[in-house]
Amino acid sequence: MAQDSAWVAVSEFVRNPGMVGSAVPASARMVRRMLAPLDWQRISILVEYGPGTGRFTFEALERMRRDAVLLAIETGERFVKTLRQRCDDRRLIVVQGTAQDVNRHLAEHGLGEADCILTGLPFSTLEPGDAEAIMRETVRAMSPCGTLAAYQMRTAIRPLLRRHFASLRESYEWRNIPPCHLYWATGKRQ
Ligand SMILES: C[S@@+](CC[C@H](N)C(=O)[O-])C[C@H]1O[C@@H](n2cnc3c(N)ncnc32)[C@H](O)[C@@H]1O
Repeated sequence: MAQDSAWVAVSEFVRNPGMVGSAVPASARMVRRMLAPLDWQRISILVEYGPGTGRFTFEALERMRRDAVLLAIETGERFVKTLRQRCDDRRLIVVQGTAQDVNRHLAEHGLGEADCILTGLPFSTLEPGDAEAIMRETVRAMSPCGTLAAYQMRTAIRPLLRRHFASLRESYEWRNIPPCHLYWATGKRQ
């Protein structure tokens, strides 16, 4: 990771630990494990919540079809600026905003339902009402066959995933700071 990205990650975490969740970007191994089960040929619209410095973003772009689109939604202004500066891939759209408005962001960019939504938002530190609202909007934004892929330090997201999806696969990655729970949820309940 470029030195300026590392500095942005640390300073944003110090400014807002609850929203950023971790000062250390995801490990290469965790990114690989999280993205491996996704069916990249079937993904034409990928949404990423909280790309931060772009650890998942760049790896996802490597795997995506040439005609696919990645809509990255990030609240942090400095993360947004850094990501836009570091990436000129035409498939990537970076918006400054909140995951709660995912449906508005998709519509504003003329995009339909997402085939996959990837999130590392710290659900354990979100207000319970915000977590529920983000999950509701997420389900609404996804295609019926879509996958919600989530990496989380804690398990607060699990009951939400069980409530909103018919099928949930879980794993755990030790080689990350901190170690993380990995989830892949499919079969959204309307
Ligand atoms: C744990 S960090 C993930 C960073 C990055 N994906 C990585 O692995 O290095 C969570 C990110 O979500 C962003 N964020 C927090 N709440 C958000 C929200 N409601 N909508 C969009 N982004 C949010 C934070 O600014 C931060 O960049």
